[in-house]
Amino acid sequence: MQQNPIKAFVFDAYGTLLDVHSAAGKAMDDLGGKAEDISNIWRTKQLEYTWLRSLMGKHCDFWQVTSEALKYALRCHDMENKQRHDKLMSLYLELTAYKDAIQTVKSLNQLGHTTLILSNGSRYMLDKALQNSGLDDYIDHAISIDDVKIYKPSPVVYKLATDYVNCSPSEIMFVSANAWDVAGANSFGFRVAWINRFKRPPEILPGGPELIIDSLSELEQLY
Ligand code: 2OP
Repeated sequence: MQQNPIKAFVFDAYGTLLDVHSAAGKAMDDLGGKAEDISNIWRTKQLEYTWLRSLMGKHCDFWQVTSEALKYALRCHDMENKQRHDKLMSLYLELTAYKDAIQTVKSLNQLGHTTLILSNGSRYMLDKALQNSGLDDYIDHAISIDDVKIYKPSPVVYKLATDYVNCSPSEIMFVSANAWDVAGANSFGFRVAWINRFKRPPEILPGGPELIIDSLSELEQLY
């Protein structure tokens, strides 16, 4: 089947371009052997809270969700204190970009492709994270769900990208490491590449990727 030409490459941010575990990784001196488990609970709760708040109709921005998920994770290990919490939250604004992220976004951008981010991240978080990671040089525009106050995988979120580009869903190549985000994006109509960073089986959900990759550099086959 003839595929539509790609009008824009749209990337998820957290977990796809930015390593969410690099925040706790930079606080090992404080967290010690608990760092990995705290980071895993933090990420899991952060996503759970986005889905629950959207279903409950009780929206708050991703900075507050991330802060409350961190509070929960620290409480699980009886390590809750304001200084530790604030330090980890500031590190969340300085997440490390995956090596393949900078290389791929840079080459896509230099080839003249439109490179966008579509993220749960608040405007403030995305601006900081893109500046601090060096990605801002190669991302044309970052779209935040702040504009619609509902989280992925609501189709309302993915429509932000087709509205911005002024194209049909099948002219967008969406790239995410989060398999549930892949399902949501493809269900909306995007073409999707799943970067399976954590070597997980595909979700059993409507929608799925046309491409499963281990490195973003494999997107070059689409250029
Ligand atoms: C993002 O929206 C899903 O956290 C991921 O960037």
